[in-house]
Formats: sequence, structure tokens, C-alpha cells
Amino acid sequence: MARYLGVAAALVATGALAITPEQMLSAPRRSEAVPNPAGTIAFFSVSQYSFDEQSSSSAYKLLDLESGNITHFALNSSEVNEIMWIPGSETGIIYINATNEETPGGVSLWIGDALNPSESTLVASLDAPFSGLKVANTSSGDLHFLVNSLAYPNGTAYNAELAPTPRNTGRLYSDIYPRHWDTWLTKERYAVFAGTLSANSSFALSGSGMRNLLRGINFTATQPETPVQPFGGSGDYDISPDGKIIALLSKATHLNKANFTASYIYLGPFDGSSVPVAFNGPNTTANNAGHEGASGAPTFSPDSSKLAYIQQDGIYYESDRFKLYALDVGLKGSEVTTSNWKGLASNWDRWPDSIHWAPDSKSIFVSAEDYARERIFNIPLTVSDSFTPQNLTGVTTVSAFYVLPDSSLLVSAAAVWTSRDFYITTGDGAPKMLFSALKVDPELAGLGPELFEEFFFTGSQDVQLHALIVKPSSFVANKTYPLAYIIHGGPQGSNANSWSTRWNFQVWADQGYVVVAPNPTGSTGFGQELIDAIQGNWGSYPYEDIVLCWDYIHSNLSYIDTENGIEAGASYGGFMTNWIQGHDLGRKFKALVTHDGVSNTLADYASEELWFIRHDNNGTIWDARENYEKFNPLDHIANYSTPHFVVHNSMDFRLPESDGLALFNILQGIGVPSRFLNFPDENHWVLDPENSLFWHTEIFNWINYWSGVGGPLDDIPVDK
Ligand SMILES: *[C@@H]1O[C@H](CO)[C@@H](O)[C@H](O)[C@H]1NC(C)=O
Ligand SMILES: *[C@@H]1O[C@H](CO)[C@@H](O)[C@H](O)[C@H]1NC(C)=O
Ligand SMILES: *[C@@H]1O[C@H](CO)[C@@H](O)[C@H](O)[C@H]1NC(C)=O
Ligand SMILES: *[C@@H]1O[C@H](CO)[C@@H](O)[C@H](O)[C@H]1NC(C)=O
Ligand SMILES: *[C@@H]1O[C@H](CO)[C@@H](O)[C@H](O)[C@H]1NC(C)=O
Ligand SMILES: *[C@@H]1O[C@H](CO)[C@@H](O)[C@H](O)[C@H]1NC(C)=O
Ligand SMILES: *[C@@H]1O[C@H](CO)[C@@H](O)[C@H](O)[C@H]1NC(C)=O
Ligand SMILES: *[C@@H]1O[C@H](CO)[C@@H](O)[C@H](O)[C@H]1NC(C)=O
Ligand SMILES: *[C@@H]1O[C@H](CO)[C@@H](O)[C@H](O)[C@H]1NC(C)=O
Ligand SMILES: *[C@@H]1O[C@H](CO)[C@@H](O)[C@H](O)[C@H]1NC(C)=O
Ligand SMILES: *[C@@H]1O[C@H](CO)[C@@H](O)[C@H](O)[C@H]1NC(C)=O
Ligand SMILES: *[C@@H]1O[C@H](CO)[C@@H](O)[C@H](O)[C@H]1NC(C)=O
Repeated sequence: MARYLGVAAALVATGALAITPEQMLSAPRRSEAVPNPAGTIAFFSVSQYSFDEQSSSSAYKLLDLESGNITHFALNSSEVNEIMWIPGSETGIIYINATNEETPGGVSLWIGDALNPSESTLVASLDAPFSGLKVANTSSGDLHFLVNSLAYPNGTAYNAELAPTPRNTGRLYSDIYPRHWDTWLTKERYAVFAGTLSANSSFALSGSGMRNLLRGINFTATQPETPVQPFGGSGDYDISPDGKIIALLSKATHLNKANFTASYIYLGPFDGSSVPVAFNGPNTTANNAGHEGASGAPTFSPDSSKLAYIQQDGIYYESDRFKLYALDVGLKGSEVTTSNWKGLASNWDRWPDSIHWAPDSKSIFVSAEDYARERIFNIPLTVSDSFTPQNLTGVTTVSAFYVLPDSSLLVSAAAVWTSRDFYITTGDGAPKMLFSALKVDPELAGLGPELFEEFFFTGSQDVQLHALIVKPSSFVANKTYPLAYIIHGGPQGSNANSWSTRWNFQVWADQGYVVVAPNPTGSTGFGQELIDAIQGNWGSYPYEDIVLCWDYIHSNLSYIDTENGIEAGASYGGFMTNWIQGHDLGRKFKALVTHDGVSNTLADYASEELWFIRHDNNGTIWDARENYEKFNPLDHIANYSTPHFVVHNSMDFRLPESDGLALFNILQGIGVPSRFLNFPDENHWVLDPENSLFWHTEIFNWINYWSGVGGPLDDIPVDK
């Protein structure tokens, strides 16, 4: 515990307002706000970790969209996993209760009213841990719903609590991949299930029970799976508001899943009377026009007559540009008909991601990354490919949004200085602010937009590149602060104006640094050319950009002390840190921090998503080995000399811990001051608050010692 207090004590000694790792990690975390169909109230959840109690608590809240008043939503959050508003009702809700009294490991569905939730009634008992509820209120009054769960190969939903215990722990594979993200693959795959709650029998689950909608879809290489793992959720499927048609996203069934990103959207009747068909799969209009890559965000229009979605062109390039499409859909007998397929604003040099229709079904709101924040744009169905949408939001990052009945937008946002804002906007005039965590949470006291700045510098390819600056809360203009230079992962990613509980720039700055976080070659949100330029160039253009940005800081930002700076990065940012250690820029820093980064590019094939390795190295390791050798940090050991803190977690299957261990063993062997931190129970990220506090404490002790910001570097206690 003394080591935790050390970091806090250093801050207290300066007498400054500042956010500590402990405050950041124990501040409330609020979900997006989900409005009711009438657009009068919204619910959200808030969870909070207590270091004193060593436990998390959570609660649901109601937000009045007129006054911004927030009241307690009396649904017990340890009992209720998910809530949906019932379309067509004022304040009707349907929710998933985590308990099923009849079937251990199952869940139950309840219907009630948000204004009187204690009167809710149990309507259906589901025999597996279903999640991802979507619901349509049909003209007959029946509710049609979709949920997802792991399923056995025979299609039956998988309930871990009822599954037999295997007699051995062997895992046998005959195709790639054996494991993905932080999970070893088993024979079970995720599937979407449909059910009907009959209005004339108090919304009991109708006799046909739960139907696995993926059943009957044939495959040659990859078994259909929805949601697409590991990050897919209920956004991977949808039900038309009239309850008649379903859409689901699944990876290409004729391509190996580890080799290709391609995925398609299947359309089928809700009643299961025919097997869903991929309308943009092989041998379709869309596919034949060259749009063959990963699809996403299938979303029916409010009038049920159309579907919008996004798709990339390339079949194994995960950072290819997503484009927006729409088509007409209908039901003829048991077959879903499609027509009028078209691209919308197809030349727009951004990646539309989440999709929400305007109430009149005539235009689509999307969010897209744009200059280091996520922003909302509107795209009418009538536009041509050359249409350039205008941003409807500005400074902060949109985390989620919904369209209200009057076409205004309820936005859940975040920024470097606020973990959550809720506001309503039309894109015209000032937004109506409903809530800002900055004004409410004591942990965020002293933060504010005045500590945030952005600048552009000339990069290696002569283009203007973006970087952001975060100053410490105690900043005074006539002092200097050591540079904390933070490189993002991806490499197709960005440093953005948003809130993070993993790389929170303000928390780093408040140790006594000025954070500069550049967006070099490969960064997203600035156009596809910058993204594409990183292929085959991991150690060239971005490294040169990062050097040029450092030069810019050194020459132009007098309040930044570049003599005593530190540099840190995770994933690709860890690769870049290791590359910097072997090159001249490494000598400009007092300390380096690599979190789960590549140290040996010849080991890239230990990863799981092989399409990424192949694309970014412009070939396989057996066909293009020289591309892998070109930018290998391990080839520059002779130059390693800057004190280096290495983190690598055991559950990281994207980039196995052997890379971090190799780096640490080498640093120790050649006598470079170094430490190695491992979490056996964390993946590519550190999510547990106690683990995260330890991560921050040890990293900050290290950089603060070498930069001179902090006190002595204590020996590692034997009990750690
Ligand atoms: C909002 O809350 C304030 C203070 O609690 C109260 O005075 C006001 O009546 C509330 N407004 C609405 C619309 O509930
Ligand atoms: C919420 O539910 C949990 C689990 O059923 C129970 O232990 C707890 O007492 C409940 N809390 C409230 C406030 O009812
Ligand atoms: C379904 O929508 C109708 C209006 O179209 C509404 O009267 C009804 O209450 C809704 N069903 C439920 C269960 O809320
Ligand atoms: C959840 O289900 C359990 C078991 O049926 C029940 O005791 C509890 O009241 C339910 N909670 C809610 C909020 O529906
Ligand atoms: C599917 O397989 C599981 C596991 O073997 C089994 O428990 C279940 O009964 C099977 N379902 C059907 C419909 O055969
Ligand atoms: C509900 O109504 C449908 C017709 O709309 C009928 O087929 C079904 O049997 C009814 N169910 C019950 C439980 O009454
Ligand atoms: C799947 O394959 C079987 C056997 O070849 C065939 O009978 C069936 O029609 C196919 N289903 C679809 C949806 O293509
Ligand atoms: C995966 O892709 C590589 C080319 O990148 C190819 O050589 C290999 O045969 C593919 N494997 C499968 C199972 O498709
Ligand atoms: C596309 O159509 C061609 C010709 O009909 C057929 O040979 C091929 O197998 C089809 N491709 C897929 C993936 O279904
Ligand atoms: C759109 O973005 C620009 C900066 O690129 C900003 O100045 C403007 O305020 C934004 N528009 C809205 C409506 O927020
Ligand atoms: C630095 O600026 C602060 C006010 O921001 C002032 O109080 C202080 O005297 C200044 N120090 C020097 C050395 O100029
Ligand atoms: C390698 O790069 C060239 C030029 O950009 C491109 O045409 C080719 O498709 C790439 N090969 C792979 C395997 O990505």
C-alpha cells in the first residue's frame, strides 16, 4: 500500500489539484443514455469501483430529457442485465433478469413500466444465458424478440452450468485459429435466437420456443456465427420494426476465418420459414461490384422498408474504408426480397460506423471518426457518391447517439476532461446540455478543456499531421514540464479527445508532465491515404513522423522540457517504443514504457488475426520474409540503452507474452535498467481496477524516478 501512497503523496506535496490513478479508476462510469420511444426520458447505468470496499456497485438511472433531472431507476442492477424500451409504448420496458428459477445458468424475460418497475411480471424463462435483446412490437400486439447465445454444433443454446465436464483438458485443432483475443476456441459458436411473446396470453413465450436463426445456413470453410467475435454484440443483428424480417452479420462461410475479414449480412423471415440468405455475399450485385469485405451495423428503417449497413471492399484488409449502403427490403411468402441497392456518399473519405435512421426513413445519421474525435453526420438517401456530409457535432467524442421523434439527437459523449456528457442537438445552434460528469464528479475536480490543445506539424510525407496536448491541472505558463510522449496502437487507430480508463492522458499529465500524443502515418480519422501508407512501413514513415513531432515540440513549445521526457505506448505503440529504443530518438528520453508490444516481428505468426499480419507486412512470412525482417526491433539491440519498463499479460493472445519476456530478458542481459510486469488474468488490456491501479503505480514510479518528477525508485518488495 505504501507504494500506492507514494504517487498520491507526490501530488499532494505540490499542493495541486490533480486526478490520481485511484480517482480516475474509482470515478463513476456511465453508459450511453437510451431514450424511450416518445423521447421524454432515457435510462443509463452507472458503475463505480471502491478501493475501500474492494468491490464495484452499479445502478440504473433515469434522465429527464426536458429538465436534465436524474432520478433513481428502481430496477436492481445486480438482478437486471439489460433493459429495452418497448416500441409503441410510452414507458414500457422489457428486460433480462439474470436469474432463471427453473433452469440454473439461464435467464428470464420480464415486462414492466419504467415508472413503476416493482410491478414487472415474469413472461418467459430462457434456458441459456441469452443476451443482446432486440424487440419489435408487431401489429398483432405480439412482441418479436432476438437474443444471442453460444450454441452447440447442433444448434441448441449452450448453458455452461448444465454442460457436462469433459474428462480431459486437451484442445485439438485442425484449422486456424485455435484462439482469439483472450479465448481458446471450442466447438460452440454464437448464434441469434428468435422468440415470440404472445399478446393474448400475457406475453408468454409462444409454443415454438426459441429458434436458432443461423440453423440451415450451409458453409464450406467457416461455420456461421453471430455476433462476430470477439467484439460483436447486438449491433451485429437487427429486427425490422414490424417484426417480419431479421438481418444478421456473419463471416464469409467459404473463407477461412483467421485469414479473411470478409463478412456478409443475411436476411430472412422472422418466422424461420426459410433459411437466411446473404444479400451481399458472393455472386450478388454488391459483391460483383467489388464490395467484398467486412460488413457491419445492419439497421432497418423505422418504416421497415429499408436496410442500411456499412461494408469494406477488401477481403483481408481490416482498415479498408467502410462505405455506407442502403437497399429496399420486403417479404414475399417466405422469401425476403431486395432491390434498389445503392451506395451513399461512397467517395466520402471517412469511416461511417454506427447507423441511426431519421424518423421519416429518408435519411441516415452516422457517426465517424473525424480529426481525433467521433462526430455525427447526416446522409439523405437521395445523395450521390460525391456528397460530403457535414459534421453535426464538434469538440468532444460521440460515444453513442439516438434520434428522437423530432429528429434531434440525444448524444452520449466524452472528452479528455469529462468521462460522460449527455446533450441534445440538431447540429444547428448550441446543444442543450443535460449532464456533464465534469460538473458533478469530485474525482474530476480541476479538469477542463483549457488543459487541452491540438496542433499540426509537417510529417515525413509532407502532409500536416495532428497531435494533441494535455497539460497538468496545476499548469502555470512560466514553468516547464517533462514531456510524456504517448504513441497509440493499431497502428490504424488514433489518439483522440476522449476519456479512457486505460490510457487517460490527464492522469499521466497530472503526475507532472505535459502529454503530447501524436497521430502519425497509419492514424485513423484523417483520410484513407494516411491509413494506407503504413502498409509495409511500420518502422519508417511513422517513426520519422514521431521524430519530426518531437523536433516541433523541442523548437516550439517552451513549456515542455524535452531533456527529461519519457515515451510510452501499447500494442503497435509498444512496437514503436521498442523501435525507438533501437534508434536515435530513444536517446532523447529518460525512460520508455512498452505495454504488450511487438519486440520480434519474426514471431508475428503467433498472433490470431492472420489477415492483419499478412496485410500490414504486405505478404506472408513464407512468401515475403524480408518484409518482416525490415523493421524488427530485435535487430537493433546494440543501441538499447534507455531505462525500459515492459508490461506483458498472459491472456494476451493477440500478441503473446513471449514478446515482452524476450525484450525484458535482453534488456537485463545487456544491463539496461528495466522492469517486467505481468498480469496472469489480463488480456491485451488491463481491465480490473486493482490491476490497473498497480499498473499505473508501478509505471509512474518508474517514469517519475527517471524523469526526475518523483522520488527514489524503491526496491521491489518481496511480497509483490
Ligand atoms: C428537477 O429537479 C429540481 C430540483 O430537484 C426540481 O425543482 C424540478 O421541479 C425538477 N424538474 C422536473 C421537470 O422534474
Ligand atoms: C439487489 O439484488 C441482489 C441480488 O438479488 C440482492 O442481494 C440485493 O439486496 C438487491 N438490492 C436491493 C437494493 O434490493
Ligand atoms: C405496442 O404498441 C402499441 C401501439 O402501437 C401499444 O399500444 C402497446 O402497448 C405496445 N405493446 C406493449 C407491450 O407495450
Ligand atoms: C429477478 O428474478 C428473481 C427470480 O425470479 C426474482 O426474485 C427477482 O425479483 C427478479 N428481479 C427483477 C428486478 O425482476
Ligand atoms: C445438442 O447437443 C447437446 C450437447 O451434446 C445436447 O445436450 C442437446 O440435447 C442436443 N440437442 C438436440 C436438439 O439434439
Ligand atoms: C393467440 O391468438 C392467436 C391468433 O391471433 C391464436 O392462434 C393463438 O392460439 C392464441 N393463443 C392463445 C394462448 O390464446
Ligand atoms: C444446404 O445444403 C443441403 C445439402 O447439400 C441442401 O439440401 C440445402 O438446400 C442447402 N441449404 C441452403 C440454404 O442452401
Ligand atoms: C491462409 O492464407 C494464406 C495466405 O495468406 C494461405 O497460404 C493459407 O493457405 C490460408 N489458409 C487457409 C486455411 O485458408
Ligand atoms: C458463384 O457462382 C459461380 C458460378 O455460378 C460458382 O461456381 C461459385 O461457386 C459461386 N461462389 C460462391 C462462393 O458461391
Ligand atoms: C464541425 O467541425 C468543425 C471543426 O472541423 C467545428 O468548428 C464545428 O463547430 C463543427 N460543427 C458542429 C455543428 O459542431
Ligand atoms: C509564474 O506565474 C505565476 C502566476 O501564474 C506567478 O504567481 C509567479 O510569480 C510566476 N513565477 C515567476 C518566477 O515568474
Ligand atoms: C503488397 O502491396 C502491393 C502494392 O501496394 C499490393 O498491390 C499487393 O496487393 C500487396 N500484397 C499483399 C499480400 O498485401
